[in-house]
Amino acid sequence: MKTSREVSSEKLRGGFYTPVPLVVRCLERVEALSWGQRGITLLEPSAGDGAFIRGLAQSRDFAAAVGKVVAIEPEPHEAGLCAAALADHALDGHVLVDSAVVWSAATDEQFDCAVGNPPYVRFQFVTASDRAGVASLEQRIGLSFSGVSNLWIPVLIGSLTRLRIGGSFAFVIPTECFTGISAGVLRTWLVANTIDLRFDLFPPGSFPGVLQEVTILSGRRSEPSEAAISCEIREYDRAGSSHTATHQIPFDPQPWTRYLLTKTQLGAFEEAFTQLTCALGHDNRALPCGGSDKTQTTTHLDTNGLCRHNDLQYAVAEGHTPQTYHTTPAPETSFSWAGCWMLGMNAHA
Ligand SMILES: C[S@@+](CC[C@H](N)C(=O)[O-])C[C@H]1O[C@@H](n2cnc3c(N)ncnc32)[C@H](O)[C@@H]1O
Repeated sequence: MKTSREVSSEKLRGGFYTPVPLVVRCLERVEALSWGQRGITLLEPSAGDGAFIRGLAQSRDFAAAVGKVVAIEPEPHEAGLCAAALADHALDGHVLVDSAVVWSAATDEQFDCAVGNPPYVRFQFVTASDRAGVASLEQRIGLSFSGVSNLWIPVLIGSLTRLRIGGSFAFVIPTECFTGISAGVLRTWLVANTIDLRFDLFPPGSFPGVLQEVTILSGRRSEPSEAAISCEIREYDRAGSSHTATHQIPFDPQPWTRYLLTKTQLGAFEEAFTQLTCALGHDNRALPCGGSDKTQTTTHLDTNGLCRHNDLQYAVAEGHTPQTYHTTPAPETSFSWAGCWMLGMNAHA
């Protein structure tokens, strides 16, 4: 584990900026969810140097529909750049030099829309004032962040709680939101407090410079309810085409991994676990990947970075000696890249 001295200042504040195509998709989505509303109040809770502000300025129709922007950024120099972006594009609004967690725990302001890319900062590096902010936010919204390991979760939830009922949102967040125990609090909050929920998924490596796999989480704030919600999973391929599956998701902190698989894929995966019988061959493209506490998985990738069912391998960690197994070949069944990483497999080529 690295100490804060060994980690760059960018990493310590989660200062990695959003590529334009992701900004554009987020803004298009909130525009679509705003149904032609005018005078929109827009929140950008972790604004950096203003990637979403510049994106907004480029999206002329939506910029005209936005009446006011409130951006938040704790790093003063970046906040200044963001304020300059607002001024350069004659957008009405201001930048608060603050923590979105501290701010959202205290403000009564409400918004029609929120967009952004919250800071990915491990809790070990989170500042004392942000820790205090997390404690205040917990009290305010009646949630516990005790199992949460990263700052992006309270920044996101704090921001979403500042949306009026019906308000729209689109955020770039790590794909670990589907699987991590840490994100369980977000999953249950989303089921209880949102509608029109959608995740946009992209092939690995789609956005050079983005360090972890990301998804766009979008939807609208709803009245609180513990009923199951409908959620769309939209998976893009490298050519930009997409297919969408719709799932009913119950109010439950369990991982959402199964919603990333088609029925065929899920069947193949279940078969794999019932057939851990054959010794494994070797392939130098096999990659070690994170699994559950007791299981490490490896997978093979084809030349497109896709993972094939008949290449699927499991290395079950027993003590320190992994044993590896493979499954019955089923070439007609293929896992998509999304299916691979959601199963805890690292699909980076
Ligand atoms: C992933 S960057 C995104 C920046 C910009 N929105 C973009 O998309 O390019 C996250 C930003 O959050 C800022 N940040 C760090 N801690 C924060 C906090 N507690 N509240 C709000 N923003 C924070 C970082 O300084 C960084 O600029």
